Amino acid sequence: MEWRLRGDRVAVVPTMGNLHDGHMSLVRRALQVAERTVVTIFVNPTQFGEDEDFDTYPRTLQQDCERLGDAGVHLVFTPDVESMYPFGLADATRVIVPRLTRHFCGANRPGHFDGVTTVVMRLFALVQPDIAVFGQKDYQQQLVVRHMVQDIGLPIEIVTVPTVREPDGLAMSSRNAYLNEKERSVAAAIYAELQDAGEQLRQGNVAISTLEADANLRLRRAGLEPEYFAIRRASDLSPVIDNAGDYVLLAAARLGAVRLIDNILVSRR
Ligand code: PAF
Repeated sequence: MEWRLRGDRVAVVPTMGNLHDGHMSLVRRALQVAERTVVTIFVNPTQFGEDEDFDTYPRTLQQDCERLGDAGVHLVFTPDVESMYPFGLADATRVIVPRLTRHFCGANRPGHFDGVTTVVMRLFALVQPDIAVFGQKDYQQQLVVRHMVQDIGLPIEIVTVPTVREPDGLAMSSRNAYLNEKERSVAAAIYAELQDAGEQLRQGNVAISTLEADANLRLRRAGLEPEYFAIRRASDLSPVIDNAGDYVLLAAARLGAVRLIDNILVSRR
């Protein structure tokens, strides 16, 4: 490829489209860290469960391409399902990362991460990037991709970009559009709980299990159905057994038909 002959580094931003400001912050980072930026837009069927929103997932390709063009992206790659999975979905070669996928979103969305690593590996093979940019919003996803890259020995640097939030703290997500007015006003409770528990974790006066249980209870009281609220080591999601280190607070909750996830990082020294 001409770019490679010139010695240009290539960054890829894998997305499922319906781009919002959170995606655009990944794109801006990619444009900063490499000479060439490729954005992929592909609503990947293999990462959706049977009862999930693959068919109704918002598809806004033309708008997305205009936004990416205005931002200065060099290439937008929008494959169709047949070219990504030429042997069909059932016979597709799969990339499975057992480590890091057993808990949290992996437990609540069986097969989801297999679909993510399967498609990300294909996108890496097709784009051959030097750098790949992911959002911190999907904290477990970026850890799983980091692990896959390390385990397989791919020469790709993974860059993780902080979550972009609405003014009330709700993490930006394409699925926020599914929330009705009442649900939307409740949704910010997730970030508020994360911050509250994060502050108490920093102070170190309350047991981790108590912080987790209290946050779950308060989320329920606010009208959400929490799937998990957990405090783990940021590096590998293992339980916190030390008094100092880098931690991640992870939350997933259902609000009506919508599943929301969020997380924050906290360091304790
Ligand atoms: O985070 C997403 O949007 C998707 O999981 C990804 C990484 C584009 C793979 O389909």
